[in-house]
Amino acid sequence: MQDIINQIDKTALPKHIAIIMDGNGRWAKNKGLPRIEGHQKGADVVEEITEAARETGIKYLTLYAFSKENWNRPTDETKALMFLLFDFLQNKKIKMLKNGIRLNAIGDLGQLPEEVLACLNHTIKETSVGKEMVLTLALSYGARDEIIRAIKSVADELALKKISSDHLDETLFSQHLDTHDMPDPDLIIRTSGEMRISNFLLWQGAYSEFIFMKPCWPEFSRELFLQCLIDYQARERRFGMTSEQLD
Ligand code: FPP
Repeated sequence: MQDIINQIDKTALPKHIAIIMDGNGRWAKNKGLPRIEGHQKGADVVEEITEAARETGIKYLTLYAFSKENWNRPTDETKALMFLLFDFLQNKKIKMLKNGIRLNAIGDLGQLPEEVLACLNHTIKETSVGKEMVLTLALSYGARDEIIRAIKSVADELALKKISSDHLDETLFSQHLDTHDMPDPDLIIRTSGEMRISNFLLWQGAYSEFIFMKPCWPEFSRELFLQCLIDYQARERRFGMTSEQLD
């Protein structure tokens, strides 16, 4: 059987794909398993999709791994998620190095437990030589929080007269966001059938294409990921223009 990857036009790939990995809990519940087993299976899928994205030639993959609002979950679950993250950072570093993956993180990282933050910073530093793909984990991330932090940073520069308000435009503002060193996502995927953005990349997603799919994150796979790329390539992105102008 022909690999579905051959149906993808390598000259028209999205540069940046962002994913809302939703449905771990429901997947586990449907199987009569504890929620944490859904997260564990979800962590395996993170590895599979990272590999599929790199193999396809995607340059930026961003995964919504833990939202600011997720801190309100029961402590047992937040602790288990932090443990899974720590485990992932420790055990996948060698593979990331081997595959040229540079790890990055966005969000209010100061809220992470000390040992997780130390391990995250260590892995980011060690993998900084990676040239194949940037894997960004959104951790303790909320888009509104990110925008407020960016506004504070701009306000500080205005107060110090490093910039003047005449210079403030979309490009300058973007440089104060956590995502300052990456392009906006071309495609945002959400699993589990929910159709909302949940405070994810609100500024950056202004012109993203969206794919909402039924399978829960633990059921997501290389094949479904590649199918998303095929769907994306069938779309026309007009950025406010007409089809005729694009021709
Ligand atoms: C949403 O499902 C998922 C999360 C809140 C956590 C995502 C975490 C992982 C995929 C595993 C760990 C990550 C890494 C990077 C190792 P949910 O729990 O909200 O599902 P539900 O809506 O069905 O309850």
